[in-house]
Amino acid sequence: MGWKLKTVQTILSILAFYVTSAVGEDEQPRSECADFNNKTWLEYHQQGSKLQVQYLLLTRKNTDCASLFSQESLSNNASYFNSSQPTKIIVHGYRALGSKPSWVKQLAQALLQVQDANVVVVDWVYGASYAYNLVVENYKEVAVQISVLINQLQNHGCKLESFHFIGVSLGAHVSGFVGTLFKGEIGRITGLDPAGPMFKGADKYDRLDPSDALFVEAIHTDSDYFGISIPVGHADFFLNGGMDQAGCSHSRFLSIYGSVICNHMRALHLYISALNGTCPLSGIPCSSYEDFLKGRCLGCPGRCPRIGLLENSGITVSPLPQLEKLFLLTTSAPPFCAHHILVQLEVSPLDKSAEVQVILRTEGLPRTEQKLRLKSDSTVYKRVIGHPVPLCEIDSIQLKNTGARFYRQGDIHFVSVCISEFPSVGEVEPLCVKKIDVRRGAPWNHDFVQLCWNY
Ligand SMILES: *[C@@H]1O[C@H](CO)[C@@H](O)[C@H](O)[C@H]1NC(C)=O
Ligand SMILES: *[C@@H]1O[C@H](CO)[C@@H](O)[C@H](O)[C@H]1NC(C)=O
Ligand SMILES: *[C@@H]1O[C@H](CO)[C@@H](O)[C@H](O)[C@H]1NC(C)=O
Ligand SMILES: *[C@@H]1O[C@H](CO)[C@@H](O)[C@H](O)[C@H]1NC(C)=O
Repeated sequence: MGWKLKTVQTILSILAFYVTSAVGEDEQPRSECADFNNKTWLEYHQQGSKLQVQYLLLTRKNTDCASLFSQESLSNNASYFNSSQPTKIIVHGYRALGSKPSWVKQLAQALLQVQDANVVVVDWVYGASYAYNLVVENYKEVAVQISVLINQLQNHGCKLESFHFIGVSLGAHVSGFVGTLFKGEIGRITGLDPAGPMFKGADKYDRLDPSDALFVEAIHTDSDYFGISIPVGHADFFLNGGMDQAGCSHSRFLSIYGSVICNHMRALHLYISALNGTCPLSGIPCSSYEDFLKGRCLGCPGRCPRIGLLENSGITVSPLPQLEKLFLLTTSAPPFCAHHILVQLEVSPLDKSAEVQVILRTEGLPRTEQKLRLKSDSTVYKRVIGHPVPLCEIDSIQLKNTGARFYRQGDIHFVSVCISEFPSVGEVEPLCVKKIDVRRGAPWNHDFVQLCWNY
């Protein structure tokens, strides 16, 4: 009795996924586009069913209209799945409210723009929407279910190394566990701000780590709240140090929760933007963010690892580095790319500490500002800052002596002020200005007259 009712309900709900989404007047009605499971949490509970993982397939032949995907669809000639092509598997994370992730289509389409591939979206919204700690109990079971699908795809001729998992937040650890089940033989895992709570101290077996795939990379954007603060792959990109993303601070526009979500989801939005390929997002290897900001890392032989679909993120050394921390600064809005500019100040010895604000300007763009603390025991200061355009497009620099009255440093004498590309590129000379006095309340300005040759 009971099981029959459940079967009927399941069939009905599966039918319900074939939603009509045709809106355009000229378009054929597309009655077979599939979507995320949208039953309410209550309906789900009444049904008393388990995780209910389902899969959606998108390819270049159906970028706008997902189809439900399962083992059965493989033997169906109508499926767009092509086992000779690479397969991208998108795994979402915790869904507090049980709503479907809104970004899936955008990510899938960005992937398909770059690569002709099968994009399989894992819908485990049901299992992902209890209290967080209960969801964490589910993630391995979701991974086991995905591994069953992968086994079936292997039987259809897919190679393990042709799978690329893209896991968001908790989805990164789901992907990592699928990798563990396949002994690290799947091709690639990209963790987009892999979840931190309950994972940071976890055993490697239980979280994403470099042994989970041939190449594991992660983008970290909220390592102080929802993200993990430790490196988990062969290449770990820490954007703006891995926390407090530009444009995400708690403000009039963003609640504290909104600000945390903004930080956490930045990894995803930046990845989508990187796939779009408007500008390169490369990470510079360094032992710590502090050293990076102080200009103490050397850059890379050849090109630095780049976010996107380049094989191994463009890393050519073998064996691959493990747990390499890569740093980059970003702007606050798409396409997020910033040029790293090293500001070097040399001052005459100061009696008291002081504070100076450095402002870089390029016409038509938001200005870049950075405050620096100057101390009486040091005369040379270095700081890497992010500006939306390269050195040669900086129109002017301004220095303000912003020290509070407390500091009482009236004049600051600068022996030199230099800005240069960081890490230094080829023959691009630093731009320097010498012998400057900056008084409190009287900003100093300098315009650069320069042209871009090599960009
Ligand atoms: C689920 O999707 C169906 C088909 O689009 C729609 O009729 C229904 O209202 C949706 N249910 C919820 C709870 O959003
Ligand atoms: C798939 O197509 C092949 C050749 O076009 C045909 O022989 C086979 O019966 C089809 N299979 C199904 C399940 O429709
Ligand atoms: C499957 O992909 C291969 C390799 O890209 C291609 O040659 C082949 O035509 C594709 N098959 C179909 C049915 O599109
Ligand atoms: C991708 O780039 C194009 C311009 O090259 C832009 O119009 C589009 O909005 C971008 N899409 C995303 C998702 O960033």
